[in-house]
Amino acid sequence: MSAWICFGLLSSELMRDVKATIASAENQLQVQQVESKPEDQAEHVESNMAFRQLPFMGVIRVNDLATEHGFRMGHPDWINLGQGQPEVGELDGAPPRPSRIDIDIADHAYGAVEGIDELRQAVAAHYNRLYRNGKASKYTAENVAISSGGRLALSRCGAALDDVRLGYFTPDYTAYEDLMTTFHRLNPVAIELDVKDGFRIDPNELQKKVVQDKLGALLISNPCNPTGMIIQGEELSAWVEMARQQDCTLLMDEFYSHFNYSNGADGPVSSAEYVEDVNIDPVVIFDGLTKCFRYPGWRVGWVLAPKTVIRAFTAAGSFLDGGPSRPIQKAAVDILEPNRADQETNALRAAFSQKQQITITRLKEMGIDVPGNPQGTFYVFASVKNLPKPLITGEGFMNEAFKHQVLTVPGEYFDVNPNRLRKGVSPLESFVRFSFGPPKEQLEQGLDRLAKMIAAM
Ligand SMILES: Cc1ncc(COP(=O)(O)O)c(C=O)c1O
Repeated sequence: MSAWICFGLLSSELMRDVKATIASAENQLQVQQVESKPEDQAEHVESNMAFRQLPFMGVIRVNDLATEHGFRMGHPDWINLGQGQPEVGELDGAPPRPSRIDIDIADHAYGAVEGIDELRQAVAAHYNRLYRNGKASKYTAENVAISSGGRLALSRCGAALDDVRLGYFTPDYTAYEDLMTTFHRLNPVAIELDVKDGFRIDPNELQKKVVQDKLGALLISNPCNPTGMIIQGEELSAWVEMARQQDCTLLMDEFYSHFNYSNGADGPVSSAEYVEDVNIDPVVIFDGLTKCFRYPGWRVGWVLAPKTVIRAFTAAGSFLDGGPSRPIQKAAVDILEPNRADQETNALRAAFSQKQQITITRLKEMGIDVPGNPQGTFYVFASVKNLPKPLITGEGFMNEAFKHQVLTVPGEYFDVNPNRLRKGVSPLESFVRFSFGPPKEQLEQGLDRLAKMIAAM
């Protein structure tokens, strides 16, 4: 509008000059448009407008790349040893998979942001039964918030945390990097885990770091995705004690808590076992139905924490998402019924410990190095550095495996590095994460294909 007012005030001579300048600019523009290549135009059309360039999270990036080779979810010719989900069908010894859910009229209304009471109580009871027998302080519904899956629980956490120096580990779950770059109050501090130490850190060493680096919180997946290492028993007890003494909040992502195949371990692992007072100890636990109950599509996650922390998570959920689905939460209550839950998780451990052994044995036979002593999850994190070229890097291995219709994930995708501040080659460049999430027959077929690929090099 103001531009048009200006034009009205110009003398006619000046107007002619202005018009000539505009005409010449338009001509130039037309020439440029004629000369510009079709790709440039395509780039222009596909520009992100006001949005930032946001890459897919590492594991999802593999699926995206594989589609260029013809991969589709559920394609019968492809074997997905990159997948981040356990098999979801019937399993020997496990209860039958539900095939329908009920919806009441009341379920059409909004539910509570923190989740329905029945499920919050069922989650609290599940932890008290498994980890807090004989302890005076027990979890109640007020210590639980339900969210639509684990990543949303982590996002609520990112939104609810105050300015904090947040220690994180590398390698670890890829989404942590995105979390720490999205929520700007978080001040990430890296703790590198070395393959020489079996991707572990001594609790005393950790305590020193917490003190030296003034860490207000630590975020870790335990059991660890991708390495399969587990902190448990006295070691885990020492972590919780350190958190209490140093007032350093433990953000324990326990999404693989039931995938524990370590010698002598006859059950799941959780820091809940070492908490003294559930409303005072600075321990926040994330888990859900995604992995341990094999329902990734249900999107049911939960957080256990002191009551005050649950209120902060709920406040974050009140603007982030508005709370989880009511009908799905009701169905989730049945899944946590004690007998059913034990049947499912025992069957899971039996089936997956066998698949872990198969995977480790076969990979070693192929000349792939499996460091440390992985005890959990449904991944094997292994080094391909001794294989023939071009298989010696995670990326090289992934690209060759695509040709054999197998998906794997390069280890460097788990090199958590917020804002890519650490430069240079990733120490995880020669690693690959192999998933034994698929059913046994598929897993064996995928391993056969990889063995053939390597032998043909
Ligand atoms: C360590 C870890 N935490 C949390 C999640 C999130 O699970 P969800 O699919 O429920 O968001 C995953 C999924 O891969 C994971 O590996």
